[in-house]
Amino acid sequence: MGDRVEIFEMGPRDGLQNEKREIPVAEKIALVDCLSRAGFRRIEVASFVSPKWVPQMAGSGEVLAGITRADGVSYAALTPNMRGYQDAVAAQADEIAVFASASEGFSKANINATIAESIARFVPILEAAREIGLPVRGYVSCVTDCPFDGPTPPGRVAEVAGRLLDLGCYEVSLGDTVGQGTPESITAMLGAALDRVPAAKLAGHYHDTAGRALINIDASLELGVRVFDAAVGGLGGCPYAPGAAGNVATEAVVNHLTEQGYETGLDMAVLDEAAQMARMMRTG
Ligand code: HMG
Ligand code: MG
Repeated sequence: MGDRVEIFEMGPRDGLQNEKREIPVAEKIALVDCLSRAGFRRIEVASFVSPKWVPQMAGSGEVLAGITRADGVSYAALTPNMRGYQDAVAAQADEIAVFASASEGFSKANINATIAESIARFVPILEAAREIGLPVRGYVSCVTDCPFDGPTPPGRVAEVAGRLLDLGCYEVSLGDTVGQGTPESITAMLGAALDRVPAAKLAGHYHDTAGRALINIDASLELGVRVFDAAVGGLGGCPYAPGAAGNVATEAVVNHLTEQGYETGLDMAVLDEAAQMARMMRTG
């Protein structure tokens, strides 16, 4: 049996949060329901952020209420603050994610807080989640490059990732938000992050702006990372990171990993169906 790699599907959240067209909740639900048949263990479907900041995610509660939940699939939601946490719990998200940045410029642009302020906001969220046994994932954005501050020192990534782990995040996903990382910068960044967080608790979250996400995944595999975030059809980007393209396409990652003998447990025919749906949603 080949080595197992897990893909955390991001399309319904990281993908759709950046679409220009207002996508009806029913279309989002249809996409999630299709993805639920593909074999993912985790799908990010919702984001309880301010609708003034990201109007595309306003229907997140309805999405969680309307999907057909498949056994063994964890449906995840982003939560920037206590208000988002409460909404995610009310909507019965199976897990939540807090999101920080390794660069101050992006932190301010994305969540209107310094890195330290954002971490302070996460403390009560993690405490509340621990009390009810709700798993919390952590994100660190701009792990190699920031659109406002330039290159990110690897030590900053290690610091923020380590802090999220210490607070109780079960996994830390490292975001190349603007897709400018190279195998060299990803390797240097991971080298530092691994001093604070074991490989088994790290994930790679690479946007494909420069077409290097797959080789950056290869560099991460070399260092023992076995979880990657991806979005069907390469959907998305981040509204607060100018020029950011979508996450690397799930189907491209699956093909790339399969060629190298890794197993993902995903059904390619269902993924193709979902990717086609995603492309239709994009052109609307
Ligand atoms: P703020 O303006 O500093 O905060 O925003 P505020 O407390 O003054 O709230 C502003 C308004 O939003 C208020 O409404 C609040 O009630 C409301 P008003 O009084 O003006 O009518 N509000 C909320 N509404 C619904 N749900 C909430 C909520 N919180 C406040 N949870 C805030 C601070 C964090 C809220 C804002 O900056 C925000 O929502 N940012 C989210 C930005 C975002 O979603 N970015 C994309 C996701 S991150 C990403 O894509 C990166 C990632 O993929 C990894 C990578 O690629 O690197 C994860
Ligand atoms: Mg992202």
